[in-house]
Amino acid sequence: MTGASPEPVDSAAYFDLRARLLGPLRNRPLTSGQLCEVGRIVCGHPDGLSLYGIPAPRMAAHGIRLLGRTALECVKDPHPALVAAALTDVLAGLPVSGARPVIADLFCGSGNLGHQLGRLLGPRFGHRVLATELDPLVHAATRHNLTLVDSPVRLHHADYRDLLHTLAAPAVPDGRSEQDVYLVEPPWDAGYTPAGLDLTRTTPPVPRILDDVRRSRGGRPCLVVLKTSDLIARDTLAATFRDATALRTLLPRPVRRHGMNAAFHLYRV
Ligand SMILES: C[S@@+](CC[C@H](N)C(=O)[O-])C[C@H]1O[C@@H](n2cnc3c(N)ncnc32)[C@H](O)[C@@H]1O
Repeated sequence: MTGASPEPVDSAAYFDLRARLLGPLRNRPLTSGQLCEVGRIVCGHPDGLSLYGIPAPRMAAHGIRLLGRTALECVKDPHPALVAAALTDVLAGLPVSGARPVIADLFCGSGNLGHQLGRLLGPRFGHRVLATELDPLVHAATRHNLTLVDSPVRLHHADYRDLLHTLAAPAVPDGRSEQDVYLVEPPWDAGYTPAGLDLTRTTPPVPRILDDVRRSRGGRPCLVVLKTSDLIARDTLAATFRDATALRTLLPRPVRRHGMNAAFHLYRV
């Protein structure tokens, strides 16, 4: 968030814009005016939409390309810095192994979270960042943007399970670091309703992704960062992570009514 206070967000305008971003504008690169509109309506201020440290009013001048769907779904600055601070705290207490730790951004979209975590955590903990994005148009726009900002992220046009397979723990005791971090935010799709975000109805469901991560690790612990809305439906967060250790829940300053803001959850699984 910049110094300016966010304006209260009008829910009707938000849902109208949301429908346009996921509908006719879904696969279209947004104009500078549209990017500022997203900042104003989704985040309460034109500068509120900021990615890679670049606020909406300056994105066009930097050559940033953002499709409608990604402008809505992305992790916006300064949230990656909040996640990085929490992870720094947690990582400092974890054992260091021989293997270089990774940040795996499984559903990377804009790649902003992996990009900023790589910049903020890499120098201290040595993480390299690998990312997968399945949609060819989102992948192309994100590859373009990450190149522009000289990002440390290695982006693959692939399904998240391909990355899990690549990172599968080799059969040696130190094959994977306990400092490995998996970023999880699949499309919310039908899972996002006025009752909150139902983690069993995202695409794919979060419990399935968690099972995939666990299976790929062969029992080696790791960290998972999950982005949700600030209202969870049917207690699906607790049910999904019942066998994990809850480490932190981050609730950035709300700009919209309850249920329409971002939240981040850190677990050791
Ligand atoms: C909710 S968005 C994530 C937004 C992201 N956190 C950001 O900061 O931009 C989900 C993304 O996952 C992608 N996706 C969907 N299914 C996928 C899969 N099976 N493997 C990899 N990416 C996938 C979608 O195309 C979409 O861009």
